[in-house]
Amino acid sequence: MSITTLLVGFLAIGAASFSIKRAETFPPVPSSINRLALACPTDNTIKTWDNSTFSCASTTNLAAGDVTGIIAYSVKDCADACATASRFLDGGCDAFTLDADLARSYSINNGANCWLKRQSDIDGETRDYNGVSGKLIDGRA
Ligand SMILES: *[C@@H]1O[C@H](CO)[C@@H](O)[C@H](O)[C@H]1NC(C)=O
Repeated sequence: MSITTLLVGFLAIGAASFSIKRAETFPPVPSSINRLALACPTDNTIKTWDNSTFSCASTTNLAAGDVTGIIAYSVKDCADACATASRFLDGGCDAFTLDADLARSYSINNGANCWLKRQSDIDGETRDYNGVSGKLIDGRA
């Protein structure tokens, strides 16, 4: 095998791995999305990556009980983040409220639109055109 053959081989491998690693999706920055099209599934439940089940309520804002806030582009993103937070945060997460007005929420609500919450600290709920909320109903202690 000649040096040239080896070099061509390495270049081919390099090109192949480069094309595999290239990103296929570039999510828009939060400030460029005015409104997310959020919807609860028809059975009004969300199954998260850890097989927990959350209720899903449209036009609902859960008051208080915030653990932290993140950016989420879908109801499932927000519910999944709550499940993940439960593995890392003292006191866990068993509820969330997501704000559909992403750019606005990002600029005025501490850089977030998905609020991870604890049911024990929630202080009622309000009707809110922007809100979609969920509560853990099955899966974890
Ligand atoms: C979720 O359920 C599926 C199907 O029963 C199982 O294969 C998977 O391991 C479960 N995942 C977790 C994180 O428990």
